[in-house]
Amino acid sequence: MKILTYPDERLKQVSQPVAQFDERLRTFVARLEETMRASPGGVGIAAPQVGCFQRIVIVDVSSRPKSANNGRLVLINPEILSWEGMATSREGCLSVPDYTGNVMRAERITVQACDELGSPREFLCNGFEARAVQHEIDHLDGLLFLDRLVSRRTDLFRRKRYGNRKSA
Ligand code: NI
Repeated sequence: MKILTYPDERLKQVSQPVAQFDERLRTFVARLEETMRASPGGVGIAAPQVGCFQRIVIVDVSSRPKSANNGRLVLINPEILSWEGMATSREGCLSVPDYTGNVMRAERITVQACDELGSPREFLCNGFEARAVQHEIDHLDGLLFLDRLVSRRTDLFRRKRYGNRKSA
């Protein structure tokens, strides 16, 4: 599927909760995951990035060595229940291919979501995975990492080569 890129106005749209956990949803999740895995450095994706304004995200940071993680996460209607600690680190986004930025995020979160079958799940996420989940949930609320930079002058960096940094 084609990924919308900044400054496409549709990326500012707020996505709606998923109501039907049916075959159509599971087919969409599979296609969304293919799109994420086909993108260099892709560790996360949110449905609105492909123009589907439903609260669906996928995160899989297991390709990144030494980052504790829960493996492949399909988070439908995700809600962050708790936040702990704050850290600033570099982020990339499939919808902002030419830049990376320094963004402050919680270091540990608990997130509640449904899986593709509609079963409620809860995950404790740390470090890079917690960052990726927060980045994806921002997409559901129409926010990009660009909206979280303290200063575009000091916290925004042009990418030298696409794919040399993880994107979500
Ligand atoms: Ni992104």
